[in-house]
Amino acid sequence: MTALEGKVALVTGAARGLGAEIVRRMVAAGAQVTAADKRVDDGAAAAAEAGAQFFELDVTDAEQWAAAVDAAATADGGRLDILVNNAAITRVVPILDCDPAEFRKVIDTNLVGTFLGIQAAAPTMASSGGGSIVNLSSPSAFEGTVGMPAYSTSKWGIRGLTRTAALELADLGIRVNAVVPGALRTAMTRRPGWEDEDYERHYGATVPLRRMAELGEVADLVVWLASDQASYCTGGDYAADGGLGAGSLPPLPENG
Ligand SMILES: NC(=O)c1ccc[n+]([C@@H]2O[C@H](COP(=O)([O-])OP(=O)(O)OC[C@H]3O[C@@H](n4cnc5c(N)ncnc54)[C@H](O)[C@@H]3O)[C@@H](O)[C@H]2O)c1
Repeated sequence: MTALEGKVALVTGAARGLGAEIVRRMVAAGAQVTAADKRVDDGAAAAAEAGAQFFELDVTDAEQWAAAVDAAATADGGRLDILVNNAAITRVVPILDCDPAEFRKVIDTNLVGTFLGIQAAAPTMASSGGGSIVNLSSPSAFEGTVGMPAYSTSKWGIRGLTRTAALELADLGIRVNAVVPGALRTAMTRRPGWEDEDYERHYGATVPLRRMAELGEVADLVVWLASDQASYCTGGDYAADGGLGAGSLPPLPENG
């Protein structure tokens, strides 16, 4: 029996990057997955390739959330076992230059979007006998992040929301946890003109394991938290961050 056999899952931000990898790994683990994203063409293509169904969802819209939960659940007689709140955006701009509308947009997508997802999914999960919610956190939820005030604030907020939801939903049989990924090579970290070595020097060199994370290394942790193997885990932060949370290292000196 595979880890997610018989489970029904909804994954947001699934058109690309980490969300698309989570969908692939969940399907491989035996789940029936609905991949949701506001990016329709990429989302539909990624879902089809993975063997998932696609649903168009803007996570800032409560009505669309209700429809997404229905679509995911009707795929298997009205049950929903897993929700992964992965969709997020960032803006790289310091506080003094940050347009308040842009700040609000990041909070609305990352934090309010996660809140709306929990609110929409929990009743169906409860009537399915319980479930697992996994929220994507970040190292930016544990310290300030220069140039990303809205993103860091949103991820700190997700920590509080994760713990509160874990407390409130425990009696419904719903576990709620956060995954803290190290830096990944996705659209979110892409910088114009950077080569491979620029990414590793900027994101990898100060990590204890001296490299960025692979998508699968983070996605597998999400799959495990979603599975019954994590049945006694709720309200926690689970890191796949190469040891970054233990403290950062100075970059290795160049040789030669
Ligand atoms: N990339 C990293 O280094 C890194 C590090 C730590 C945490 N994370 C977190 O991992 C998660 C995935 O990040 P990624 O690197 O794959 O990002 P990405 O930008 O590659 O993918 C994010 C996806 O979210 C979707 N999305 C954005 N706004 C949406 C909305 N309103 N409604 C629905 N979908 C929306 C986008 O269309 C996109 O498909 C995020 O929560 C991010 O904060 C990423």
